[in-house]
Amino acid sequence: MNFNEEIIRWYQANKRDLPWRHTTNPYIIWLSEIILQQTRVEQGLPYFHRFAERFPTVRDFAAASEDEILTLWQGLGYYSRGRNMLVTARLVMELYQGEFPKQHADLIRLKGIGEYTAAAIASFSANEAKAVVDGNVYRVLARYFGIAEPINSTPGKKVFQQLADELLNQQTPGLHNQAMMEFGAMLCKPKNPDCKTCPVREGCAAFATRQVNSLPVKLKK
Ligand code: ADE
Repeated sequence: MNFNEEIIRWYQANKRDLPWRHTTNPYIIWLSEIILQQTRVEQGLPYFHRFAERFPTVRDFAAASEDEILTLWQGLGYYSRGRNMLVTARLVMELYQGEFPKQHADLIRLKGIGEYTAAAIASFSANEAKAVVDGNVYRVLARYFGIAEPINSTPGKKVFQQLADELLNQQTPGLHNQAMMEFGAMLCKPKNPDCKTCPVREGCAAFATRQVNSLPVKLKK
């Protein structure tokens, strides 16, 4: 088995059962991805349930007041996320009559949706072949391929995005992206990664050269 196949096989055996993994509804995936920015899954989960219950559709969300959104958001931090979501929900009503877009090219134009979030929504909801590159993915790629390019430099970001795009499984990009993120979050962790049980350590450059704890490289700014 190659790297991609091993990662997907690992994912299918070890993935957490998370609510947004049971849907292809782009609005619900958007809710989850915005809540999970700068937020751990355990912390974000109750907020996700609260929002998804109170606002089952983007139409419901768009009709809320900013006060209500910010009250529900209390405790999550980075309140601009909540404000941007309201702007985006109202724009989706205007531009798409409440049909939340699934295509990367449409998503990237909405407020609060950057490369990462657009790729996540497009690949999870419509299997569009866009590689997701978040902190987890940077770490897995840096270690497995032995890349010392800083992940927070402009040339570094290019190198990782290009590698992630080349690696992307074109048949099942959504599954591939989820698997890469989960593998980074659960096994190839920042501290004390679980190399003992890692299915790809044979091919891992960082493991072979004892650089697991020094990769990825992040520049102090
Ligand atoms: N963190 C950000 N997006 C996530 C997702 N889709 N699943 C698990 N953790 C995440």
